[in-house]
Amino acid sequence: MNRIAAPLMLLVALLAVASPVAAAPYLAGSSGSGDPFFPLAGNGGYDVHHYSLRLAYDQPANSLEGSAVIRARATENLYRFDLDLRDFLAVSRVTVNFRPASYSQEQGQELVITPRRKIKAGERIRISVDYAGTPEPVIDPDEALDGWVPTDDGALVVNEPQGSPGWYPVNDSPRDKATYDFRVAVAEGKTAVANGELVSQRTRGGWTTWHWSQDEPMSPYLATATNGTFLTEKYEANGLFMYDAVDPKTRVDEADPPNPTLAFKRLDAQPEIIAFFSDLYGTYPFSAGGGIIDWAPDVGYALESQTRTNYDRIPDATTVVHEIAHQWFGDAVTLSVWPDIWLNEGFATFSEWIYDERHAGPPAQEVFDELCATPEDSKEGQDLWFPAPAALKDASQLFGTPVYSRGAMTLQALRTAVGDDAFFRILRRWYAQNRYGNVTTADFIALSERVSGQQLDDLFDAWLYEEGRPAVCDS
Ligand code: ARG
Ligand code: ZN
Repeated sequence: MNRIAAPLMLLVALLAVASPVAAAPYLAGSSGSGDPFFPLAGNGGYDVHHYSLRLAYDQPANSLEGSAVIRARATENLYRFDLDLRDFLAVSRVTVNFRPASYSQEQGQELVITPRRKIKAGERIRISVDYAGTPEPVIDPDEALDGWVPTDDGALVVNEPQGSPGWYPVNDSPRDKATYDFRVAVAEGKTAVANGELVSQRTRGGWTTWHWSQDEPMSPYLATATNGTFLTEKYEANGLFMYDAVDPKTRVDEADPPNPTLAFKRLDAQPEIIAFFSDLYGTYPFSAGGGIIDWAPDVGYALESQTRTNYDRIPDATTVVHEIAHQWFGDAVTLSVWPDIWLNEGFATFSEWIYDERHAGPPAQEVFDELCATPEDSKEGQDLWFPAPAALKDASQLFGTPVYSRGAMTLQALRTAVGDDAFFRILRRWYAQNRYGNVTTADFIALSERVSGQQLDDLFDAWLYEEGRPAVCDS
């Protein structure tokens, strides 16, 4: 210690005694964020504001190189913290506030970082991570694939519920929303599509870098960087930046011929659907929209990636309605923990029903009545009535029939109980109050009771929490 530093150190020591923040011990940020189904997903001790991701994907070699800059703020005093990154991606360098930090990769998805200098609660941190490897899809508890899924000309990139750490270092909790920008380099002639608006596209030395920017907050599982050979269309509709990409080889099923014309026809419905839900629920939450129709039949589902849905094949018209409805419920208003998935899927499925009802299709009540008639002891009944949608027993049940159909029935039952006027006020307020945020089932029940002025415990118990066919289906 030199002579100038000594009085300073004394001052620091005095402040440390006086201030409760400085007195708080330094912690290792926790390795999870408390999700009951995914204990290692997300981390504790900080809150991310922005991800800046640079990726280069050599498709024939299936090799991914990445460099991420993450801007965050510490929420605790930290001497160490984690990011989530799968260990098939090897990290070569980490810095914290521009100084090299030590790190290790543990437990399959924890990147444990020890900065040279401790971090105080409230401090802003800039983390950079360089990494590379052969990306592997992540296998979900329901055996579906997510993450970076190679196709024959690129990769379909979808992350629900746990694919994000398969391609970028992340605080993988749906509660830690952040803005993003992406610079994705792919071979010249190929296209890389991410969330939000296209900022620029530059070709140099046989590689094209696609720069995308997502300026509204986004949960990690909604990020995408799907790439490959695509026919693309950029246009404006409803005042939004629209970008569609269609794999010329896409089809409805393996047995069908490629049909990019049909794929574009499905996407042509997007502006009307966006206008319809904007009217019904409140203004569309983002500045951009569009869809990516790839050919990746091993995936087996579509995903409502924020502003830009990914389809693994040509969807039917109803799937497009479902995925667009998710932009309100799922993307703008997001679950807090995965067992509350019905808040995403039940709402998107109900949205299909109300869309049909208002487009000369069957009334939602008719769909509800038909499902209600499903006997408990049939095969369909076992599938529909067990488990109750807000009482899932494990993560393999996240995308089961009850979450979608019985979740939607819950909303139709609420609609019948409180009347259309109160019901649509509930949905509009749910969106207006929670846009860009996170919610729980308890929040929805409380709001429904507040807006309707009714006691709704019995209704929600019967539809969300008690397994088996609700008795009201008999009356
Ligand atoms: N959210 C998607 C949908 O709208 C389903 C995602 C399924 N993911 C999975 N791992 N099974 O239907
Ligand atoms: Zn869905």
